[in-house]
Amino acid sequence: AAFLGPMEEGGQPGKGPHLVGKKDDLIKAKNTVVTAGGRDLLVVHHQGVFYALDCYCYHSGGSLQNGDIEEIGSRPCIICPKHKYKISLADGEGLYKGTDTTVTPPVTTWLTKGVKQRVHAVTEADGDVYVTLSEGDWVESDFYQGEKGKEKRAKA
Ligand code: FES
Repeated sequence: AAFLGPMEEGGQPGKGPHLVGKKDDLIKAKNTVVTAGGRDLLVVHHQGVFYALDCYCYHSGGSLQNGDIEEIGSRPCIICPKHKYKISLADGEGLYKGTDTTVTPPVTTWLTKGVKQRVHAVTEADGDVYVTLSEGDWVESDFYQGEKGKEKRAKA
């Protein structure tokens, strides 16, 4: 995976869309750390689809850069290398194995904790890839993008 660094030159301040790289390069790298609008993101290319999500895991700030991608309940997920938390790439839901008691008999299955990792929109134009930062309600991964989160990551 490559580190592309800040994109102030090509990008727009704030939300974007921010140019994050060439499509071919991002496909080759599979997982790429980029900085867009002051936020550290991971751009993932998996089975023909681009995804962008906050780079630091909502659980404890682990970098997702080298996380494996696995299909969990037919949803592509990134596995945080630090404590193996599973995060769906498309919507940032935290998935865990639990017991579904709404069916009889209860079954062990993948359940969701809801959206824990902020995900962002990816678009393509003329061989370039752009990320538009998402906005809205607080998501747990937001903490690790701020100053306090940075300190905590440095100590971890
Ligand atoms: Fe990602 Fe703990 S930091 S699973």
